[in-house]
Amino acid sequence: MNDSSEYLDRILLDAYSIGSIIRSLAAQIKLDYKDRQDDLIVISVLKGAYFFTADLQRALSPELDPVVEFIQLSSYGAGSKSSGELKFKKELEDVNISGKDLLVVEDIVDTGLTISKLREYLLEKGAKSVRICVFLDKSEARMVEVKLDYVGSKIPSEFVVGYGLDYNEQYRNLPYIGVLKKEIYS
Ligand code: PRP
Repeated sequence: MNDSSEYLDRILLDAYSIGSIIRSLAAQIKLDYKDRQDDLIVISVLKGAYFFTADLQRALSPELDPVVEFIQLSSYGAGSKSSGELKFKKELEDVNISGKDLLVVEDIVDTGLTISKLREYLLEKGAKSVRICVFLDKSEARMVEVKLDYVGSKIPSEFVVGYGLDYNEQYRNLPYIGVLKKEIYS
């Protein structure tokens, strides 16, 4: 995995751009939650969002220091096509979200099916509010309308990897977002 041109068409967002996106999202979130941070819980959606969550949490600090909880869903399985079903691999278990303001942190919204179902689920469990913070918005691929409160970057409808995003569990560790070559996944 040394020469990225073997598996990537191009780099969409380099590490520097990722850093400035994080700072700008964090600045907005700090402003929006500054008077109601006591009830705030960040819900990070594993696995894809773990890099993003860690960077965002540090960028929110010290002004905003919310509890971070993790949930794991799977919509893609081993391939690259969304099944559209919300499947829990890790539930919230003993976290009480009733009456809480939730900020869901996701790496990417594609069809929108996962995040819209997750939002419904969290509201049904009694959350006071649910906002969505997504690093990448692949809006051309949308199948359901979903309100995204904080968006890092809009991207074209291509297969992207890196910064937590994978293809069959590979490439999550890349420090940038790149477009995967078609021959790798087709
Ligand atoms: C990705 C991503 C979202 C979902 C978005 O997760 O993290 O949860 O797909 O797709 P959608 O908008 O079409 O529903 P994935 O199932 O690849 O799991 P991972 O984060 O563990 O890699």
